[in-house]
Amino acid sequence: MASSCLSVVLLLCLAAAVSAQLSPTFYDSSCPGALSTIKNAVDAAVGSNPRMGASLLRLHFHDCFVQGCDASVLLSGNEQNAGGNAGSLLGLDLIQKIKDLVEAACDNNKRTVFVSCADILAVAARDSVVALGGPSWTVQLGRRDSTTASVTLANNDLPPPSLDVAGLNTRFAAKGFSSIDMVALSGAHTVGRAQCKNFRNRLYNEANIDPDYAAKLKANCPQPTGSGDSNLAQLDDTPTPVNADSFDNGYFVNLQLNKGLLHSDQVLYTAGAGGATENIVDSFAANPETFRNAFASAMVKMGNLSPLTGSQGMVRRTCSSTKAN
Ligand code: HEM
Repeated sequence: MASSCLSVVLLLCLAAAVSAQLSPTFYDSSCPGALSTIKNAVDAAVGSNPRMGASLLRLHFHDCFVQGCDASVLLSGNEQNAGGNAGSLLGLDLIQKIKDLVEAACDNNKRTVFVSCADILAVAARDSVVALGGPSWTVQLGRRDSTTASVTLANNDLPPPSLDVAGLNTRFAAKGFSSIDMVALSGAHTVGRAQCKNFRNRLYNEANIDPDYAAKLKANCPQPTGSGDSNLAQLDDTPTPVNADSFDNGYFVNLQLNKGLLHSDQVLYTAGAGGATENIVDSFAANPETFRNAFASAMVKMGNLSPLTGSQGMVRRTCSSTKAN
């Protein structure tokens, strides 16, 4: 009994030691300009193309859900060929551009340290959400980059838009997320775009879609597969005083109105079905601040998924490659 207690204590210490290696001040002495360099670059990119903020946020999600936040999604090939990624990963060039700017900022200080691609992605995702008007959170730093990426894991772990609530809960629970976290994180779809092929089935086969909304979408998403497959629609087209790309709780209001774009969006609110997620949608739709807080805390959790730390993995120079130069 005493020895099993001791092992539990040791395990807890070990877990604390691993997470203690991530810290918001990780680059403060080695590369003090890293965070401001990332923020300035994200602000400029989102300022000229707001969708880029959405694309960076999605990249961080697709990174963290597959073998942890280790920039595996940025390695050429591999995960980039997975179902949820092929033909729909944007922002890869921008991340490399930011990486080069950050490295230059570190070098200016005559220090030979390199900021990991995984950390750049985590910070860029946060800065994107802020630039689009969403909540902020403190990003833990010190993640290292993987030396591998797995298309099989990506296919297994990334949720497809055909999932129902049970399937969504299973994928998110596998990563330690509650149903509230899952619904909050789905609220990322308050920004960005989706291609016709990802919502065509819902558009032509589901009844719980607002008729005017459906008619508008059909105009740019014809039924025959292959025609206009990649035409885009806004994931959340709630008109706001600012612009349609603002990070707000309009996504949840739209779900209440049967104006969810993806099947996996609308299943969170199937009015009358008494599903547990309906109450969560109602609460986020009614209270913007509740959504902002839930989203920020779920993003912190997401950013902490299985980081490589210490001497694990590597710090890549080029985010798409494990080559030294
Ligand atoms: C709940 C399960 C989820 C499913 C099934 C899902 C599925 C999708 C699909 C199919 C697209 C459109 C891709 C395309 O047409 O190219 C998309 C876009 C997007 N997703 Fe998700 N997603 C989920 C959760 C998340 C989460 C957790 C986040 C971030 C926290 C996120 C952020 C985004 C963003 C920002 C876009 C727009 C990207 C852009 O415009 O470039 N999604 N998602």
